[in-house]
Amino acid sequence: MFRKRMKKFLFGVAAGILALAGTAAASFPAFAETDIGAVYWIYDHGIGWSRETKDNTYVQAPAGSYTTAIWVTLENQPADMTGTIAYQVNLSGTGWLEWKENSVEAGDSAGDMPLEAVKFKLTGELGEQYDVYYSVLQNGGWTELAMNGEAAGVEGQGLRVDGLRVAVRPKGAGAPETPGNAGAVIDPSRPMIALTFDDGPSASTSRILDCLEANGARATFYMVGNRMNSYPDTVRRMVALGCEPASHTWNHVYITSLSAEALHGNLAQFDANLEAIAGVRSKTMRPPGGFINNGSRQALASYGVPAVLWSIDTLDWKTRNPQATVTCVLNEVKDGDVILMHDLYSTTADAAETLIPELIARGYQLVTVSELASCRGGMQAGQSYSQFRP
Ligand code: NI
Repeated sequence: MFRKRMKKFLFGVAAGILALAGTAAASFPAFAETDIGAVYWIYDHGIGWSRETKDNTYVQAPAGSYTTAIWVTLENQPADMTGTIAYQVNLSGTGWLEWKENSVEAGDSAGDMPLEAVKFKLTGELGEQYDVYYSVLQNGGWTELAMNGEAAGVEGQGLRVDGLRVAVRPKGAGAPETPGNAGAVIDPSRPMIALTFDDGPSASTSRILDCLEANGARATFYMVGNRMNSYPDTVRRMVALGCEPASHTWNHVYITSLSAEALHGNLAQFDANLEAIAGVRSKTMRPPGGFINNGSRQALASYGVPAVLWSIDTLDWKTRNPQATVTCVLNEVKDGDVILMHDLYSTTADAAETLIPELIARGYQLVTVSELASCRGGMQAGQSYSQFRP
């Protein structure tokens, strides 16, 4: 019965990857298909087995659920290499269960008790040549990577496991890259939203990036060009984390006041600077103040970018009240929303630290504007968009 389910999951995930391959190929990791990799599922209490999850990718239980069992195998292991992947789980109320190996359930998918911690190890020749790294989602954050038999997760304190990440790497290659960033696989069938932060970068941007990284999430930063040179490392880190740096013009000018020529020059100055700092160009732009008219749309069309507005305005810049920002988003959020915040303020970073894990717990994938658009029909230069509904 379990095998049958696996097939369905495999098909679903393959279809999801294919759907994305055309537009999001650049964001997929440099992990060759022939490398040995972990493949795993978690059992979501009250729901069932998760999607199939490939090496070094986060999988987590939906809101209100938690993990009661795991099921793990490998792909691309050469036929003549001995050894396999073994795993042990700590089940709440029982403690550490027996070690299990390759393609056997560990935990209690029929029960109600959550896992509290996990251990993995590789055996035989596989274990001589490869290391296994892993982390669990617990108490709203991903634990530090554990490896080769160490425990990931805190046991005995009533903290449940809500998600899992496993990676197999050649010995000596070091820890795997942080996923959810470059390694993210988006499930187009699940809800997704784009958090956007305007007017930065600033000293508060790093805190938002820390939180995104810890939660395997991404966001889009509509930056003011002339601020970027003060925070070049922050801008480069956005790219490294799979976030999207994008243009809010060079100097926060209202684009409706500019000729086409002046707007082109302004955007080109932004792009040249971004390219010099981080090696990328802005794929979309956000008009300061949200002001746009037919003239500016034509100018954006000839420059080759779409304009992105928003569907939820948190007014974070006005209230400077983290709870008000959190409440605004959680009351209004829907699949396909583009949410407007401003990373100039520490109060916005405070709000983001609450919102990011909470939105994920409610089942939303936090993706960039370009990723959201590519899953929902794409964008055209010179058009403006404020949401991307399914
Ligand atoms: Ni602005």
